[in-house]
Amino acid sequence: MKLVKFDPLSLLESARSARSKAYAPYSGYQVGATALMSDGRTFSGVNVENASYGLTICAERAALFMAVAAGSREVVAIAIVAAGTCLPWPCGACRQVLSEFGSDHTRIFVATEDALDGYREATLSELIPHAFGLPPAAR
Ligand code: THU
Repeated sequence: MKLVKFDPLSLLESARSARSKAYAPYSGYQVGATALMSDGRTFSGVNVENASYGLTICAERAALFMAVAAGSREVVAIAIVAAGTCLPWPCGACRQVLSEFGSDHTRIFVATEDALDGYREATLSELIPHAFGLPPAAR
């Protein structure tokens, strides 16, 4: 993967600022995510809930799907920030989606909005060992 330099705290700040746009009237748990892609662009997303709960999309997947729609497919790093005290480790579905567009070089940062510098970091293989994958028939 091409070397793209970044500062984890700037990425976390971007995710925190995105977080204010989260639509989470049912859980009250607002999440923002910013993905840095291998072309140097960043894309942000928020969780968007629905009265039909299962239709909710998480902030990480929203950010990654924005990136893919803009033509970026390789995630270098992603920062995820939530309100409150519970760290927003990606859910299982988001881990699988991260594995589609990431690699074990992908850096994953999580923090709560009031303690960005207490962020935690993990790799994809820590978060999703043995991720499901298919050889792409068409990219
Ligand atoms: N959520 C995220 O946005 N990202 C995660 O990794 C975990 C959960 C959202 C989904 C839902 O809107 C709320 O947090 C509570 O589950």
